[in-house]
Amino acid sequence: MVWRRHLLYLLWSVAAIAQTVSPGESPCAQCHSQAKTQPNTSMGHALETVETCKTLTDQPLLTATVGKYSYRIERKGAQSDYSVSDGSNTLTLPIRWVMGASSAIGQTFILAKDGELYESRVSYFREVKGLGPTLGSEGSAPRDISEAAGRLMTRQDKLACFGCHATNATSGRELTLEKLSPGVQCAHCHKDSETHLAAMLLDSYDLESRDQKTKPHPLAAEEVSEFCGQCHRTWAEIAMQRNPGIANIRFQPYRLAGSKCYDVDDARINCLACHDPHREVNANLLDYDAKCSACHGGGKAGAKTCPVAKQGCVTCHMPKLELPGAHFKFTDHRIRIVKPHQPFPG
Ligand code: HEC
Ligand code: HEC
Ligand code: HEC
Ligand code: HEC
Ligand code: HEC
Ligand code: HEC
Ligand code: HEC
Repeated sequence: MVWRRHLLYLLWSVAAIAQTVSPGESPCAQCHSQAKTQPNTSMGHALETVETCKTLTDQPLLTATVGKYSYRIERKGAQSDYSVSDGSNTLTLPIRWVMGASSAIGQTFILAKDGELYESRVSYFREVKGLGPTLGSEGSAPRDISEAAGRLMTRQDKLACFGCHATNATSGRELTLEKLSPGVQCAHCHKDSETHLAAMLLDSYDLESRDQKTKPHPLAAEEVSEFCGQCHRTWAEIAMQRNPGIANIRFQPYRLAGSKCYDVDDARINCLACHDPHREVNANLLDYDAKCSACHGGGKAGAKTCPVAKQGCVTCHMPKLELPGAHFKFTDHRIRIVKPHQPFPG
């Protein structure tokens, strides 16, 4: 009967594409509201194609000078060329992918040359609306024009970058870039969602026996930190490194675990208590008060209340701090009393 299921699925798909699913909309959207918002988030755009990257379409020419090298990114139809010049020689390479979302902090370009991929030495930073040195490249001077263009990506680099920023780009230790969908999509977090989709469409999905692995089930703080930490880095990953000081501000699972509020078993302090991964991060800081009050609400059994203020908790206790070179103020997830002139508690 397998062929019949396939035929039904095919018929349904054709009908669905013709009727219910508007172009570009996720096939999950007819049943799940998450699919209407998630594809537009920064996570959903963590990798962009050159064709659709808004940074590149909105700014057809970007230029910068770093040391003795000058850089140009120029739009050519649906593609963009990246060139670097030392005054006498110019090297021009096509951009193959854009790592990072147009709506978020910044973007690094993945360049193609002789069948290899290179990580661009200059990146786009949204706060300064222009190009600057890629984070991490500042320490070393390029030896030649090829190094000035970018850093050759090893197989390991490709597995790591594309593994976190795209979906289906890797399979075990294999690179499967030809199958990649840009960004963090449903299937990256919900394993087996393709099978689930097919089953739901055939109306034969047995809810009783459904595979619990489909949903990353709740929801103790540590469990969620480990889950989000696959990409945002786990506590253990950071704790094992030499302390990188302020650079660890971007590793939220690590920072949060260092806070007195953190309790491995408590769902009220897990990432999902404050963030819905299907929506863009909520920038209205007053909305987080209720999350704090869940514990610091003043009840007898609760945690202490604030002697200073009754609202805007995160504006004082989760300070936004500039990460040098990133052109962005990250929110410190080590919830704490901030003392004036106190050094960053790394
Ligand atoms: C035809 C409708 C339909 C489509 C299409 C559909 N789902 Fe579902 N999905 C359901 C139903 C019904 C449930 C069970 C609801 C519940 O338990 O609350 C469900 C449950 C889920 C859950 C929760 C599972 C759990 O264990 O609680 C996830 C995650 C999910 N779907 C993801 C997806 C993704 C991703 C897609 C697209 C690839 C998709 N679904 C497509 C109907 C659909
Ligand atoms: C597969 C990798 C991956 C996983 C798993 C993941 N993230 Fe992300 N997330 C990213 C990447 C990559 C970005 C950066 C997007 C950008 O700036 O281009 C990001 C950005 C974010 C942002 C900031 C921008 C936004 O989209 O609002 C938040 C908040 C966030 N993630 C929360 C979470 C939470 C909570 C979880 C766990 C439920 C999670 N992430 C799991 C890769 C991941
Ligand atoms: C372990 C998962 C992971 C790997 C590996 C990874 N990233 Fe990211 N990347 C993230 C997350 C998560 C963010 C979200 C920003 C944040 O909170 O730090 C991000 C943010 C970014 C950004 C946005 C700008 C910025 O500085 O935040 C760029 C650009 C980027 N990554 C490029 C790359 C490139 C290029 C590689 C490979 C050399 C790479 N990333 C490897 C997870 C990863
Ligand atoms: C970055 C990871 C991530 C991505 C990407 C993601 N989800 Fe989820 N999703 C989660 C997590 C974590 C939960 C559990 C949330 C909870 O229980 O609070 C969840 C829960 C759900 C649920 C169950 C909601 C409920 O109330 O029980 C559905 C349905 C769902 N997701 C659908 C989708 C669809 C459809 C997509 C793609 C359009 C998607 N998700 C993309 C992480 C993700
Ligand atoms: C108690 C609430 C709270 C918890 C718990 C929490 N966050 Fe956040 N997070 C915030 C606030 C507030 C912001 C800043 C929002 C803004 O200004 O746009 C933020 C911002 C972020 C950003 C965007 C980058 C930045 O620094 O602004 C990422 C990524 C992120 N959180 C990931 C996580 C992850 C992963 C977890 C779980 C380990 C987590 N958060 C737990 C409150 C929380
Ligand atoms: C899961 C419960 C929980 C949540 C949610 C929570 N806290 Fe806490 N917090 C605690 C506990 C427990 C302590 C330890 C001492 C106490 O009882 O106040 C603490 C301590 C603190 C301290 C004192 C830190 C120090 O260094 O002495 C501050 C400030 C604080 N929390 C602020 C916040 C803010 C702001 C939020 C929301 C962004 C928040 N907390 C969310 C449980 C929580
Ligand atoms: C204007 C900045 C500011 C805001 C807003 C603010 N706090 Fe505080 N909070 C402080 C300062 C400063 C202290 C340290 C007071 C001291 O030690 O005398 C403090 C102390 C605390 C403590 C430790 C109390 C103790 O007895 O040890 C907690 C818990 C706390 N705040 C939670 C919160 C919560 C929850 C909110 C939101 C309802 C909040 N704060 C809003 C500045 C602020």
